[in-house]
Amino acid sequence: MPKNRKVVLKSHPQGPVRLEDFDMVEDETEALRPGQVCVRVDHLSIDAFIRTTLDGGGFHQSAKLGGVVPALGVGTVVESTDAAFAVGDVVTGPMCSQSYAVLPVAACGKVDTQLAPPTAFLGALSIATGLTSYVGMKYVAKIHGGETVVVSGAAGAVGSLAGQVARLLGAGRVIGIAGGPDKCRFLTTQLGFDAAVDYKAGDVTAKLAEQAPNGVDVFWDNVGGDVLDAVLMNLAVEARVVLCGAVSQYENMANVRGPKNYLKIAERDASMLGFTIFHYPDRYAEATATMAGWLNSGKLIVHETLEVGLDRFPAAVRGLLDGGNTGKFLLKVG
Ligand SMILES: NC(=O)c1ccc[n+]([C@@H]2O[C@H](COP(=O)([O-])OP(=O)(O)OC[C@H]3O[C@@H](n4cnc5c(N)ncnc54)[C@H](OP(=O)(O)O)[C@@H]3O)[C@@H](O)[C@H]2O)c1
Repeated sequence: MPKNRKVVLKSHPQGPVRLEDFDMVEDETEALRPGQVCVRVDHLSIDAFIRTTLDGGGFHQSAKLGGVVPALGVGTVVESTDAAFAVGDVVTGPMCSQSYAVLPVAACGKVDTQLAPPTAFLGALSIATGLTSYVGMKYVAKIHGGETVVVSGAAGAVGSLAGQVARLLGAGRVIGIAGGPDKCRFLTTQLGFDAAVDYKAGDVTAKLAEQAPNGVDVFWDNVGGDVLDAVLMNLAVEARVVLCGAVSQYENMANVRGPKNYLKIAERDASMLGFTIFHYPDRYAEATATMAGWLNSGKLIVHETLEVGLDRFPAAVRGLLDGGNTGKFLLKVG
């Protein structure tokens, strides 16, 4: 078996995650038991949820001190004890921050490389990115034709797809909220958003009121905090606020700040609801087929930010939280 290089958690972050919270180690790749495969990890998906695993007693699962960090990946089977998986098969699964992953076959999904390139299965065709955007917009937000939809974290992986999915499901006006002029320009010139608001330039409440004079029918929130409060001030009557995530709070999970302006929900006969994609497995097949169709017909634009080298995993996680990615953030491991 090959040597396994791993990024392990050295200390639980106290506040913002630091590069010193991780270590790079090398050890033997464990021997396979029946029903397992060994996968060479080719790309890792750098996702916001990773930050929530670092605290101990995390929001999703937890990274253990001295252990690898949870992360989704795509890779190539190099050894198999299961007849359904052959050496050379490309698979996705919870590969974590390491160069070789030994996984039960039940945790692996075979990638159809005829449908799309392998990295698409960490982006537009991944459960935690593309399928989240499709299922959330269609079955949670329940977009009606002509509605005004606002997406926060709009230039990130989920947000950039969620805004496009809203349009493809019939939204009338799609507005993105993102950090900085470059990301805002990217949304309007490359992804077809109707308008973009730069939350780092201040007064999101007033700027959004200009862009959505009749109010916001659907708010897809990836961010929470001040941005959520600003959008609550702009809700239309019977608006739906969909809580997809709250990345602005992930470095302070012990003291999450709730919305100050939640009474606007009552005033506007609005509703606020959350969802977790893993509770919608019966929608995965439809979501994958629809997203693949849109992707391959050019209706869905994807953008990737690429970091190279497993040793860059800590910097990539830090970079995502600092807004260093546009679109899907991927780490090429090899
Ligand atoms: N509900 C579900 O089942 C589900 C599934 C998957 C993901 N999610 C959620 O989807 C959201 C997006 O995740 P992702 O993995 O696609 O990450 P991402 O959007 O690609 O990256 C995170 C982005 O958040 C923005 N950000 C960071 N700190 C911020 C702050 N304090 N205020 C405002 N924006 C901030 C940054 O963009 P700027 O440069 O614009 O600041 C950054 O690029 C997360 O909340 C995640 O938890 C939910």
